[in-house]
Amino acid sequence: MNFGNIPDDVIAAVLKYHEIVEVVSKYVHLAKQGRNFKGLCPFHSEKSPSFTVSPDKQIFNCFGCGTAGNAIKFVMEIEGLTFPEAVRQLAEEADIPIGWESAPAEETAGQKEKRLIIEGHELAAKWYNYLLKNSELGKPAMEYLRGRGFTDRMIDEFQIGYSPPMWDKLCQFLNSRNINLAIMEKGGLVSANSEGNGYLDRFRDRIMFPIRDARGRTVAFAGRVLKEAQPKYLNTPETVLFNKSSILYNLDRAKSSIRKSRKAVLFEGYADVIKAWDAGAANGVATMGTALTEEHARVLKRFADEVIVCYDGDDAGQAAAFKSLALLERSGCNAQVAILPGRMDPDEYISVNGAQKFLSEIINSAVPSTKFKLIYLQRNHILQKDEGKLKYIQEALKIIAELHSPTEREHYVKELSHDFQYSIQSLNEQLHQIREQLQKKKNFGDNKENSWNNVMNDRRTEKTSPVLLPAFHNAERKLLAVMMEDADVALYVREQLGDRFNVEAHAALAAYLYAYYADGNEPDASRYMATLHNEQLEKVASSIAMTDSTGGINDKVIDDYIREIKKYPQLAALELKKEEIARAERAGDVIRAAQIASEIISLERQLKTL
Ligand code: CTP
Ligand code: MN
Repeated sequence: MNFGNIPDDVIAAVLKYHEIVEVVSKYVHLAKQGRNFKGLCPFHSEKSPSFTVSPDKQIFNCFGCGTAGNAIKFVMEIEGLTFPEAVRQLAEEADIPIGWESAPAEETAGQKEKRLIIEGHELAAKWYNYLLKNSELGKPAMEYLRGRGFTDRMIDEFQIGYSPPMWDKLCQFLNSRNINLAIMEKGGLVSANSEGNGYLDRFRDRIMFPIRDARGRTVAFAGRVLKEAQPKYLNTPETVLFNKSSILYNLDRAKSSIRKSRKAVLFEGYADVIKAWDAGAANGVATMGTALTEEHARVLKRFADEVIVCYDGDDAGQAAAFKSLALLERSGCNAQVAILPGRMDPDEYISVNGAQKFLSEIINSAVPSTKFKLIYLQRNHILQKDEGKLKYIQEALKIIAELHSPTEREHYVKELSHDFQYSIQSLNEQLHQIREQLQKKKNFGDNKENSWNNVMNDRRTEKTSPVLLPAFHNAERKLLAVMMEDADVALYVREQLGDRFNVEAHAALAAYLYAYYADGNEPDASRYMATLHNEQLEKVASSIAMTDSTGGINDKVIDDYIREIKKYPQLAALELKKEEIARAERAGDVIRAAQIASEIISLERQLKTL
């Protein structure tokens, strides 16, 4: 990727304007602790705060999952933006002129195509919405919507529209606005006619639901028929901008509410999301008529710790809910299920019972995932017969065995014992056996699906610092910490040591630091980190800046560190030679042993001169 387009002074101005504690506080509740601020990490689930923000250094660092960086990096992670996108957003908020995109040559052909597809979709959404609200043609659609309880407020908020029944009305309109129809075909809005010499509207005589991506750009449509006909919903096909397995309907508008409460509600249908929003649940999203995927779950996890699955009450809906739980849990979300009575869907429930009841009796009465799994299992076993009962117990214990918390396991075992009249003791024995088997599987590393600890599966959970670091490792970190604060020390180290840091990441960080100072920059950890553009390096840099105190490090200590670092390759070589000599002696190779002995002596002499 090329980051060179963004001028350094824009990055500097952005970092100067945006105080990191302020930026982070918009998303995370922070409490002052000594010189730093602490809070619960928004990037992984945790119970005690290991997410730290340093106002002195203008960086953040999570000691739990290792995510780290400056204010730009934080916005990238939490908003799911690229580096240039995050800089642009922060620059706009600060009224800093964005110089780097004024050159038109910088837009690639692919970017241009996407921009045009979005423009076409946004224009079409307005047009469909206008037709629904203002035209004769739209009247039946409006009546249909009214009949289903859609108010003006909902229609406006979700920009619901109507596509007319003619073959190419939209094409004509887009033409009149100089929109390139060939590009719109790629975007899925129109289709080529069978002669291949013109275009037709893809959506005809349907209620139109614009679908926006997480950034609020209209990238697709779902069109519903007014009468009973197939297909009930016609969606935009997969395009460069519309990927059904990652996009969630309404996420753009729900995300701020989700972020605040760390809770999302997952629905099956567009109508469910809209009605729930009207009922007061602003944190609802839905998949696009597809089953929940791992990607969806990952997207949700970025904003939510808890996901309430609120699917239709029919068998298909409940089966889909059951399946979604494992996916959500694997992504690190705590899942719950809101169960609808009868075979209702949320939309119908709200129409029949009203908003209050929906919120209190459905959403706020969601049951924990384990509870739901047990209920669901019961539905699928014939419990009147002993055989069915025993099978059910075995399956139920498997689910309970997955639970991390002993008290939770105890709770469900007690419930089982009570409901089925088996002794707690015998249930516990069986549970113990199942857990032992699970543990064995886990030790073989093939138990990714049945993680007992969500955090374990977080891709970011690489521990950043091992408990005991060798002396040279510590010396390199300390040295880098001082170098980040003092340009003169950096210059001195450059002369004395150059790139001879033993840890590769440290050598890279030193090189970036030399370049940073060579450009005439002042010490500033946050700005320095903006030059790295590498997640791994950012993590290490941030961890060094935050944990390695530079107090009491004087010139003599610096020289000691440098010596320690230079010594290490020789020490390592010495170690190897000693092993080699032992081998030679064991093999009775006296001559070889003598050779190595003299090599060892010269290595030791070299070491003394350092
Ligand atoms: N769906 C789809 N294509 C279909 C049927 C359904 O894409 N032919 C998707 C839509 O996203 C729909 C969801 O699956 O919202 C749930 O389907 P269903 O329960 O049948 O639709 P409802 O949401 O109840 O639709 P409506 O309320 O409009 O009848
Ligand atoms: Mn439905």
